[in-house]
Amino acid sequence: MMATTSTTIFSLGVLVLAIGMLVSHAEAAPRAFFVFGDSLVDNGNNNYLATTARADAPPYGIDYPTHRPTGRFSNGFNIPDFISQALGAESTLPYLSPELDGEKLLVGANFASAGIGILNDTGIQFVNIIRMFQQLNYFEQYQRRVAALIGAEQTEDLVNRALVLITCGGNDFVNNYYLVPFSARSRQYSLPDYVKYLISEYKKLLMRLYDLGARRVLVTGTGPLGCVPAELAQRSTNGGCSQELQRAASLFNPQLTQMLSDLNSEYGSDVFIAANTQTSNSDFISNPQAYGFVTSKVACCGQGPYNGIGLCTPASNLCPNRDEYAFWDPFHPSERANSYIVRQILSGSTDYMSPMNLSTILALDSRT
Ligand SMILES: *[C@@H]1O[C@H](CO)[C@@H](O)[C@H](O)[C@H]1NC(C)=O
Ligand SMILES: *[C@@H]1O[C@H](CO)[C@@H](O)[C@H](O)[C@H]1NC(C)=O
Repeated sequence: MMATTSTTIFSLGVLVLAIGMLVSHAEAAPRAFFVFGDSLVDNGNNNYLATTARADAPPYGIDYPTHRPTGRFSNGFNIPDFISQALGAESTLPYLSPELDGEKLLVGANFASAGIGILNDTGIQFVNIIRMFQQLNYFEQYQRRVAALIGAEQTEDLVNRALVLITCGGNDFVNNYYLVPFSARSRQYSLPDYVKYLISEYKKLLMRLYDLGARRVLVTGTGPLGCVPAELAQRSTNGGCSQELQRAASLFNPQLTQMLSDLNSEYGSDVFIAANTQTSNSDFISNPQAYGFVTSKVACCGQGPYNGIGLCTPASNLCPNRDEYAFWDPFHPSERANSYIVRQILSGSTDYMSPMNLSTILALDSRT
């Protein structure tokens, strides 16, 4: 009897120790990170697709640690990279990368694809891109793959505890409604009605994300769409931002924040966190010098007025110091601008983040 009891106590001790080690291992590993959306957050999925929406040639990646193009639409790191760094994690791999396998799956995955929008008919000219519904289908497939590795329950836990980032909507204006004069969508909807339609379709996508287990989701609004070098080159009169695209962004962003807040009320929890990237972008666009940029109008890489025409290619003009430019190419912020945007996501006031910033969320979640 005595012997049995002490054996039991001993085995219990071993068991507690083993569980303790598992738990501390789980605590040491950074939370998983999942990324959905367009070129602002694509880490290279489009490299694996037959599409013209790609960033796989120099000088893309010129300031990345490898100094080579990766598929990111940046001279170096992009927004998800800086968020991964804040989580103490390595960057997420593109979901289509063959390297994303085994243990690497536990870091998370990046499902984003340049050119996509909320709507399926956005970016049709790019043909083979991973549209939002397909990104979510891949997320489901990802979970089956991880479940085969660590079991269904652990997978659900990994997904529930993960941080999710979703960035889309800009292309629904630039590569749909305003792509050509008299576009099908602009004949179908007035701008205010189109924005309402986008928000209602976006809501469905976010509800699907919730159903797939996401419980902390950063949702970025669009930047000041009318002020990017491409729009200055195509639409600006005397150097000002395109009023029409600015109007689109200022209709879309507040309604997005409101929709996220409504969803949180429905779910009874702060699942969705709105990042007001219109404000963080406007900071350095309206006063570039205050942020150490020489210009926020001319892209570092491109050609024509504002270097805003066409794409950034090996034949384009290239600025010597990328850190001095708010825009890397005609549409995308430079690495340094991306780092500023993520700094506001992490520690910005409620002007930038609602209902709270990412540092606050990380602190809250580490306590539960
Ligand atoms: C997009 O296409 C998918 C697959 O055909 C479909 O299930 C989905 O409802 C479509 N989304 C919208 C917003 O039309
Ligand atoms: C955001 O984060 C910073 C740094 O963690 C914190 O000090 C600040 O109070 C937060 N601001 C808001 C409005 O939550």
